[in-house]
Parts: sequence; structure tokens; C-alpha cells
Amino acid sequence: MKKHALLLLSSSLAVATASAVEVSSPSGTVRADFNVENGVPVYSVSYKGEKVVLPSRMGLRLVGADDLTDGFELLGTDTSAFDETWQPVWGESSHIRNHYNELTARLSQPATGRRMDVKFRVYDDGVGFRYEFPQEGRLNYFVIEDERTEFAMPGDITAWWITGDYDTQEYEYNQSRLSEIRAINSNGVEGNLSQTQFSPTGVQTSLQLKTDEGIYLNIHEAALVDYSCLHLELDDKNFVFTSWLTPDAQGNKGHLQTPCTSPWRTLIMSDDARDILASNLVLNLNEPCRYDDTSWIKPVKYIGVWWEMIGHDKPWAYTYDLPSVKLDRVDYSNLKPNGVHPANNDNVKRYIDFAAAHGFDQVLVEGWNIGWEDWSGNKKDYVFDFQTPYPDFDIAMLNDYAHSKGVRLMMHHETSSSVRNYERHMEAAYRLMDKYGYNSVKSGYVGDILPRGEHHYGQWMCNHYLYALTEAAKHKIMVNAHEAVHPTGLCRTYPNLIGNESARGTEYESFVGNSTSHTCILPFTRLQGGPMDYTPGIFENDLSKFNPAKTSHVNTTICRQLALYVTMYSPLQMAADVPEVYERFMDAFQFIKDVAVDWDKSVYLEAEPAAYITAARKAKGSDEWYLGAISADARKSKLKLDFLDPTITYEATIYADAPDAHYLTNPQAYKISKKKVTSKSDLSLNIAPGGGCAVSFKPVVR
Ligand code: NOJ
Ligand code: CA
Repeated sequence: MKKHALLLLSSSLAVATASAVEVSSPSGTVRADFNVENGVPVYSVSYKGEKVVLPSRMGLRLVGADDLTDGFELLGTDTSAFDETWQPVWGESSHIRNHYNELTARLSQPATGRRMDVKFRVYDDGVGFRYEFPQEGRLNYFVIEDERTEFAMPGDITAWWITGDYDTQEYEYNQSRLSEIRAINSNGVEGNLSQTQFSPTGVQTSLQLKTDEGIYLNIHEAALVDYSCLHLELDDKNFVFTSWLTPDAQGNKGHLQTPCTSPWRTLIMSDDARDILASNLVLNLNEPCRYDDTSWIKPVKYIGVWWEMIGHDKPWAYTYDLPSVKLDRVDYSNLKPNGVHPANNDNVKRYIDFAAAHGFDQVLVEGWNIGWEDWSGNKKDYVFDFQTPYPDFDIAMLNDYAHSKGVRLMMHHETSSSVRNYERHMEAAYRLMDKYGYNSVKSGYVGDILPRGEHHYGQWMCNHYLYALTEAAKHKIMVNAHEAVHPTGLCRTYPNLIGNESARGTEYESFVGNSTSHTCILPFTRLQGGPMDYTPGIFENDLSKFNPAKTSHVNTTICRQLALYVTMYSPLQMAADVPEVYERFMDAFQFIKDVAVDWDKSVYLEAEPAAYITAARKAKGSDEWYLGAISADARKSKLKLDFLDPTITYEATIYADAPDAHYLTNPQAYKISKKKVTSKSDLSLNIAPGGGCAVSFKPVVR
């Protein structure tokens, strides 16, 4: 196809020569270059003058139509600058600056009469770009065979990655050179629950990378709406990643109609690892909040009838008397309780009392509703109705009891991935929550998706998660969805999305154990898209005390568990262990009671992917600060406390691993000390293997 050279208007933001254009970030640190080379859209990205993404092709292959990969001409460019500070409903800081330069390259494909634009937003900490499909020319309905966006890496660099999968992200991360991904993937992944590992060089995003020159690069996506989830496949000869979307039941990767856009493809970069953690690029690329009234959205600290099942292997189900039956026809009132089902009135009251005594907002109760006798493994369409309590869960009494003590119950909707069934019951289920005063729901999507052939990360499911969220908002309900698609910053637009799991959480400490590097990589990767309901706070490492058959060990010291409330930012934080364990460690538990869940300001003091993270945060509307430090291996460091307010003297309460603490052999050894500090003080950290340190800083009353 003939290439037309267009003379473009030069501007301060974009510089054009022939069809090559560039746009730099406000301070000039980051630069994106775009060109149409022989009809093919190509971009590259530089950081401080170094190419971090080499020239990479862009476009999409379509089903039953000419591809949108070549034959393009550059019609022209539009440039603009944007600088705004916005206030999230909840967050790591009370104000977020959204400051970028924008370039839109308007393309036409003369042979087909179709149009496609590519929009770049260039920030000082990275780049977002997306495809835009205007309702112009001959493009209206189209079906994506695959998106062909390349990310050409500057060599065989280091990556922290989880294997490609359409249905789960519940993996440990691998650290390797790009050239090693194929061999590691082919050997199988420890704890692999995958049904759908799609390629030997397939990886998921958010993907953390580091060049040998020390530039940290993170690839993810922002604002995943009405599109399928982005994965990457590596050409491991040339070190080029190409986008690989999740297919639907027919193998297609997206049904679109103009006008529409792709999600943003994001590249966060810095030569300082702490900047990757501090970046708000993914949030900034999402639309502002869609709700007029957000007064009902509040951060939540909770406990729950949960670890008794996950960690101590008690049943969600009420009875052992039910073989596999059609659960919609069962009258439970005639069935014999198994006597060990934790979601019963007395036990739930015990949790409510504990929550009230220690200042928790909510109590999650799993296993409250009928259906758990045959909930997974059989791909059943009808399991749960999300409304009928078991006979030993008095929903009215328990909610009244909780409310009388200033506590709320948290709803649980395990859908067993029968998504149509959930949508059929959703309105009634949310109304039931309104009736009894619930304002938050933990939902879950365990098992293969029904309708059969759909995947957790396909367009159809992405639309479902958003539907569940926006329907919940009509009832002023906050949502924490487990097993959902990787978050992409949608919590900015829909802040009732207060949490997601979408990664390997604490539950795996009970299944097989998590590595001590796991929570040192999650903030670089999973947390780029939004908060995680990681459910920290496990103080008893030896689970064989509760089930003698159990061999797994919780790989942490107690102080590390405390530090996670700061290093794993979330407005939804669980204290996941059981009350009787906390009763044994009340002095350490004090940190969980004190720590805030919403913040005015956050600073990252030390960080290296999968190795260590130290963060400090100022509680919202308060002068208190909290610090958390975790490390995969033993680590000593000295911190300056210059983030503190210089006009205040604080009492620091330091929760430190004891000198002989070790996550495997001596995990419950800690020492709590107090001292007066100011912004001129230092703090020495001495972290045990797999350990951590947590500090509260409270202004001294003068
Ligand atoms: C998996 C979730 O991650 C876990 O938190 C939950 O308890 C079970 N599914 C049952 O819904
Ligand atoms: Ca899970």
C-alpha cells in the first residue's frame, strides 16, 4: 500500500516529520514515538533517552474482514496537555495528580474505507495508549480474531511473571530472564490449578520487568470495559511480547461496535523501583467517578467466619446427609446438621462480640446459605439462590445483634461460576441485603464458567463483573469479587469496587504455603490495577493444631503479617485468623486494631521486586503514621523518618521480629518496643527471614 507523507502542524507537544510523530511527558523523562511505516502503525517508548520499548507494531486481526494491521495512512494528529488533581473516594493518598501530554494519531485504511485512531497519553512515569474506533467510514460491527500489539523489549531482560491462563491468576510468580520463560512454563507451575494455559511463552499482566541497566518497566492495562482481558505471548528469539486476548466460547476475542475503544495498554517505568509502587498511571487512565453520591462507600476493616473453613478445614455445608441432589428442591429443615458447620448462630455471635470489642466494622460469614453440599465440580447451573439461610443461621436475629453492637455482617455470594444463575437471582439477593442492613458483599467465581466455554477473563465475563458492580451501586452495596478478572483501575470510576482477589491470596498458605517473596512482588504487579483482599493477619502458622492431617505451614512471622496491612494497600482489610488465636497475642493484635484503612499520603521508602518493600502512610484526617516493612530474606536497614511532620513528636510503637525469629522455625517470636521520635530520627530495621516490621507513630499529647 502506498505511503502518503503528510506535513503536520508542529506543536510544542508533538513533533512531526513525514508520518513520524513523537510526544513527550511534561518533564521530558518519557517519550513515545509513533510512525506509519509501509502502512503499519509502529510505536516505541524511551525513558531518559534510552529506548525501553523498541519499535513495535500495532493493530488487530478481525474475523471475516480485512485486518486492521496494515494498509494505513496517517491522516493527521491532535495534541493536547492535561493537568488536574482529583480526590479519590478512598485511596493511598487524598489527592492524585493526573498530568500528561496526549497525542492522537488519526489513521485511515484507504483500501477498505475504514478509520482507526491510536491515542497516547505520556506521563512522567509512563505511557498509556489505546485504539479508538470512530463511527466513521466503513467500520461498524467487528469481531476481533486477536489484537496484535507488540511490546518489543530491549533484550533478554529480567521478568517477574505468572503463567498465561484464561481462568486463574492464583499462581506464585517466577523470576527469570525472558529466554527462560518457555522452559519454566513447560515444566509446569507449582500449585497450577489451570484449565487453560494458552501458550508455553504466555504470561499474564501486570508484568514486572527490569533491564540490566536498572530500568523498571511494568506492562498492564487500564479501564478494561466491554473487551477481553490482555495477556502477552513472547517471541523468545526476538524478545517481543504480543497481546493475546481471552477468547469466548467460539474462540473469538471480542465483539465490538463503533464508536468504541480498546482498554489502555500501560507501560510504567522508572530507574527507581519505588516509583513503580507509587505510580497512579493506571488509575489516572480510568474515567472519573460515575456516582454523584459516594457517601455510602466506606473503607472496611473486618473479621470473618472464613479461616475456620479455609485454614482449619471445617465445612461450609450444613449437613453431611446430602448426596449430590438438585439443591433447589431440598427442604433443609428435615436434615441433620453436621455439628461442625461454623456459620451457626452461636459462633457468628462470638465473632460479632469479638468485632465489637476490638473495633472492627464488619463480620463476613461464609456458608450461611443453602447450596454448599454440592456447590462445585459438577458445573451445575443451579446451586445457590443467594437468599435462603441454612436452618442454623437466623439472618434477622444475627443482623439485629450485630447492629446493636455497631457492627455489620458482610454478605457472601459464592456463584460457583454459574453466572446466569447469579444474574437471575442478583436483584433479589441485593434486596435481601437491603432488608437486613448489609452494605458489602464478597462474591466469588470458583470453577469453570457457565455458560460452558466462556472464560473468567473473556469479554462476556468482564461485562458481568461490571454489571454486578453497577447493580450493587443501585443498592449502595460495595463489592469485593474473588476470582474475577485482573483489576485495571476501574475502582476510580466505580469506587464501590472496594476489593478483588484476582491473585494468589492468604488462602494458599493453607493449601500449600506461599513463598516469602510473594507479597514482595504483588504490589508491583497485581496491585497496579487496584486493591487486593489478600486477607492477612494469620498468627498461628501450625495448622496441624486444627487438623492433624495438615502438612502446610503459614510462611510468615507475626510481624510480617502486621506489616502487610501497610505494604498491601487496600481500603478493605481483613484480620483473617480466628478470635481464639488473637486472644493469645493481644499485644501484637493491637497493631491490626490501630492501623488505618484510608490514607492522606503514602511514601515508599525501600523497594525491590520480590525482595523487599517498606512503605509508610499517613492516616486520613489524622496525624498518625503507620509503617510496614517486609522482606523475602533476612534484611537490615536504617530508615530516615523524614516523612513525619517536623512539628510533631511521636510515640513510635515498633513491632519487630525477635533476633532469633524465622518464618519456618520461630515465626511467633517478636518484640514490641516504644520510643519517642521526630522527623529527624532514624529507625533501624532488622527483619528475620520471611519476616517484617510494623510501626505505629502517634503524636504525643502535649
Ligand atoms: C475462594 C475464595 O478465594 C475464598 O476466599 C472463599 O472462601 C472460597 N472461594 C469459597 O467461596
Ligand atoms: Ca480464590
